Amino acid sequence: MPGWSITAEPRACDVTELAARLRRAGCVFAEDEARILTDAAICDGVLDADLLETLVRRRELGEPPEHIVGYVEFAGLRLSVGPGVFIPRQRSVFLASSTLDAVRDAGEQPVVVEAYCGVAPIASVIAAGVDARAPELIVVDHSPAALTHARRNLPAAVRVERAALPGEMDAVLRRAGVLGSVDVMAAVAPYVPGTLRDLLPAEATDHEPADSHDGGPDGLDAVRGLIDGARRWCSVRGVMLLECHRDQATAALPHAADRGLDCRVRLSDDGQTAVLEVRVPR
Ligand SMILES: C[S@@+](CC[C@H](N)C(=O)[O-])C[C@H]1O[C@@H](n2cnc3c(N)ncnc32)[C@H](O)[C@@H]1O
Repeated sequence: MPGWSITAEPRACDVTELAARLRRAGCVFAEDEARILTDAAICDGVLDADLLETLVRRRELGEPPEHIVGYVEFAGLRLSVGPGVFIPRQRSVFLASSTLDAVRDAGEQPVVVEAYCGVAPIASVIAAGVDARAPELIVVDHSPAALTHARRNLPAAVRVERAALPGEMDAVLRRAGVLGSVDVMAAVAPYVPGTLRDLLPAEATDHEPADSHDGGPDGLDAVRGLIDGARRWCSVRGVMLLECHRDQATAALPHAADRGLDCRVRLSDDGQTAVLEVRVPR
């Protein structure tokens, strides 16, 4: 199961009973979730039965387990999340590792931006993965709730900026003194086509903000907005890495090519997740 880890060992009968209850509520990973909720209800080594009951009721009402326990496991990191914010998806580990490779290739102290950062999973992986040549890291989102978690997930030196994208990116970069100098920009922008949002699982539609999913009619509004900013924001040979579905990545290629940008699509091993790589040519 993606996303969580278990440290406590509740009695087998408790877990079995709880799992049966969660299964009746429609939870697919009932055993794992029973353990995770039990683990979250252990305070100073003692199971708080009232707290456990509260957590289980929230889960029975359909709240995502990550919002309930307050974390998600992502690329070996435990990231803070909570109600009202987008939960990083396991498929974005592909973007995180692609970004880490790009940062390592970018020379000394590169300028690295995570746009539409949410709780900042990509920047967190970068911060944890490149210590010797520390990059200058900036993360940007318009959601105060998401940025509260981003702040918890990142080292203090990272600039955490609240801004409406793509329009306010120029101002963010100018304030930081790096307009035109970004070496690597990564984003999981909202990329669900507006008409398809209702097809997402209820955990997403009911518990994550609509604007964290809705990417306009074809899902590419935000992606095109980032591509349009590439030449103003990035250095020569600077690269943007943008997660989307593979069909969307292919559809966005002409938009980048028309702007004279070098671009290609990289696919994850299962072929389902794409990273559109856009580079400012020499
Ligand atoms: C798909 S979520 C991705 C979050 C994060 N990158 C991740 O993978 O977990 C998209 C994020 O874009 C933010 N967002 C949506 N519209 C925005 C806008 N116009 N300006 C800035 N952030 C925006 C949402 O708050 C949300 O956190």
